[in-house]
Amino acid sequence: MTSTLLADIGLLATQDAELGEIRDAAILLDGAMISWVGKASSAPAADVRYGLGGRTVLPGFVDSHAHLVFAGDRAEEFAARMRGMPYAAGGIHVTVAATRAASDAVLRRNLERLAGELLRAGVTTFECKSGYGLDVATEQRSVAIAREFTPETTFLGAHVPPPELSRDEYLALVQGAMLDACAPHSRWVDAFCERGAFDEDETRAVLDAGIARGLGARVHANQLTEGPGVQLAVRLGAASADHCTHLSSADIDALAASSTVATLLPLAEFSTRSPYPNARRLIDAGATVALATDCNPGSAYSTSMPLAIALAVRDMHMTPAEAVYAATAGGAKALRRDDIGVVAPGRRADLVALDAPSYIHLAYRPGVPLIAGVWRSGQQAVGSRQSNRR
Ligand code: NIG
Ligand code: FE
Repeated sequence: MTSTLLADIGLLATQDAELGEIRDAAILLDGAMISWVGKASSAPAADVRYGLGGRTVLPGFVDSHAHLVFAGDRAEEFAARMRGMPYAAGGIHVTVAATRAASDAVLRRNLERLAGELLRAGVTTFECKSGYGLDVATEQRSVAIAREFTPETTFLGAHVPPPELSRDEYLALVQGAMLDACAPHSRWVDAFCERGAFDEDETRAVLDAGIARGLGARVHANQLTEGPGVQLAVRLGAASADHCTHLSSADIDALAASSTVATLLPLAEFSTRSPYPNARRLIDAGATVALATDCNPGSAYSTSMPLAIALAVRDMHMTPAEAVYAATAGGAKALRRDDIGVVAPGRRADLVALDAPSYIHLAYRPGVPLIAGVWRSGQQAVGSRQSNRR
């Protein structure tokens, strides 16, 4: 196995509690794994060595919430929203019609395009939900196609009830034939617990059915209104409660006392012009926070984790260090993964190099393409050996 030393790292933000931030650092990669991290001056010998020109290095971003299997877009809905129309869960049906009508090849091509965008934005692991099929065949091909790109696949049949069935008929399908068809391709089950989508009892029934099939639970909770979603997620031991835009003090206390990660999705608030979640209260209370893109054609059509970090810092009052942690180690916790999200020996060699002297620049220089290099499982996937020198 070839060992590669990445040297001349100006600042390494490991996201590891013991290693912390290291100036003038180096990382030794052995195949797909990290085998050593420390000061460049004490780096071990390696087969190959190359310098990163003093750049900043972080763990690859972990996007723990994305809806990437769909067809069409909803640009007109966005434009209408910017003219003052409020966002509502019902817009999902426009994408459902386009997704049902699309071939596997079209859905796969769209997902491939978005996966490429994510990678160039520094995302080395992403979660991907179904939820724009809402019939057995389209939900099944959604999770099966997602599985071609990521192991972190989520069955979100309980996104909204489709128009052609009664609520009860649809809920029976989601917990029955649709779950049977989707569970083999899924790691997670998710439900949209919200006015206009599913109530507490319905959400619990769907998640319980998924859990009984061996899937892990995650919940779209408290996005548009305060509601039961967050506390239900905690009670069910869900890996993550996502959105968390409208929280009561009891919701914050429940998250802080649990292992359920609060996943915040500021690109959704940005794109729906909604108030941002109160990240400071969550962090100060002791909750674990993740940041994810929520990339989807309705409420947040962006793959930019750097922009999510910039919004988290500017509009949600997270420090740059907290935001980077949330987008890396926090995302890994939201996916219950201990092999990614941190730069430390024994972890997967998933790395991002920024063309900047510090990760603060992710927020300080919003919208600027600072991602100069991305490594996935030890292989450089963005940038080149040539471009690493400067
Ligand atoms: O996470 N909240 C539910 N689902 C998506 C939006 C879906 C859509 O509008 O197409 C979300 O924001
Ligand atoms: Fe979502």
